[in-house]
Amino acid sequence: MPEETAPTAPESTETPKAQPAVTTIAEIGKHEGQSVILRGWLYNSRESGKLLFPIFRDGTGTIQGVAHVKSVPAEVFEALKGLTQESSVIVTGKVRADKRAPGGYELDVENIEVVQRVPESAPYPITLKEHGVDFLMEHRHLWIRTPRQSAILRIRAEIMRATAEFFDTGGFIRTDPPILTPAACEGTSTLFPVDYFGDQAFLTQSGQLYAEATALALGKVYSFGPTFRAEKSKTRRHLTEFWMVEPEAAYMDLNGLLELAENCLAHIVQSVLKNRAPELAAIGRDITKLEPVKAPFPRLRYDEAVEMLNQAYKDGKLENPFEYGNDFGSPDETWLSSQFDRPVMVHRYPADVKAFYMEPDPEDPRYALCVDVLAPEGYGEVIGGSQRVSSYELLSERIDHHKLPREAFEWYLDLRRYGSVPHSGFGMGIERVVSWVCGLDHVRETIPFARTLHRIYP
Ligand code: 4AD
Ligand code: MG
Repeated sequence: MPEETAPTAPESTETPKAQPAVTTIAEIGKHEGQSVILRGWLYNSRESGKLLFPIFRDGTGTIQGVAHVKSVPAEVFEALKGLTQESSVIVTGKVRADKRAPGGYELDVENIEVVQRVPESAPYPITLKEHGVDFLMEHRHLWIRTPRQSAILRIRAEIMRATAEFFDTGGFIRTDPPILTPAACEGTSTLFPVDYFGDQAFLTQSGQLYAEATALALGKVYSFGPTFRAEKSKTRRHLTEFWMVEPEAAYMDLNGLLELAENCLAHIVQSVLKNRAPELAAIGRDITKLEPVKAPFPRLRYDEAVEMLNQAYKDGKLENPFEYGNDFGSPDETWLSSQFDRPVMVHRYPADVKAFYMEPDPEDPRYALCVDVLAPEGYGEVIGGSQRVSSYELLSERIDHHKLPREAFEWYLDLRRYGSVPHSGFGMGIERVVSWVCGLDHVRETIPFARTLHRIYP
């Protein structure tokens, strides 16, 4: 059979012009000297007669563009001139290295397509001048576009990624507890009630009790999800909705738990240093404060911590004396944690101030086998955990003593009826960790949309 040859297109005399690549500001260094396409927004712009300096952002960073009236087509110059803040744009330009530029590169604008122009009559509400925090929180859906806020959210994502990595690679199985629960875990005063088809239910305060059940099924587990506290406190550390990671391990004692906590925090901080250095620089974080965060962490008994607080009060460094037997207040935690260059682990609090499920120390049952990990620079408690009561009789007694509804805890008591073992776990508040790692004044900036005592909008 004669071979058929496909008809060929006539040879083009022109060499086809390569289409500029679509890229991001974070990746722009790979395209030095080339034309690229960026898809984003106009963050800000400066104009001086024939020269325009638009600053673009695309979610991965910001870059300054340059457009001279003589170097761009007239319609491009016109589209850019007077373009309003936060208008969405697709911009083509040539990447030029510039040592003075914050990201190391500038963009010589060649073309621009305005996707949506913010009208002059209703300009973007967040200008580059200072705004009060209430105004910014009211416009949180827009505030997160600013470079500082988006850097914080990127660091938060890295903290969550590194946390999951730590447990996933450490043999922990992720088991997610329910959000709707029939009873309290951390005290009845901070429960959010929910009407559950005519019955009273609550938003979960902690997945711990369920993590204990899954740990006895699977060995080492963790949960990672939102938790809720109807906290009436208006401090810079409290949210009503926050994310908690809760590891729980069968046959783990308090010592094992302390090692787990320090290794977890060290892994998180070292991961952020490694993977989010530009963001830490963008928010002006002093990383010499984070670099020492490596295991082992200092350990203090509650009694030793109290001695330190008493001495600090005598030396005039604390306003109020500390009353033995109390839980630490914010100023106490702040002072204690500022004494160390890495988190400090305070263990063995008096059992009376701690939760019903904590195992008493067999060496002195007035103390609980528990730990609070306090972050340095005055950030205070980021982790709380304990060994759990393993005896059926003691747990049963504690449930009655704390006036907890027995029926709701029968399943939890089953964990002590059938193959009870020593086991331990902790809860780590993600927002507290983000606040510390980023060096922020308040947890409200650590989560995309904070829920606090007086805010549930936007
Ligand atoms: O110390 P907490 O209350 O411990 C528990 O809930 C245990 N059941 C956890 C466990 O052992 N599985 O909370 C644990 C952590 C705190 O150390 C803190 O980091 C964070 O959760 N946290 C909050 N974060 C933001 N806003 C609040 N209102 C918080 N309450 C606790
Ligand atoms: Mg606590």
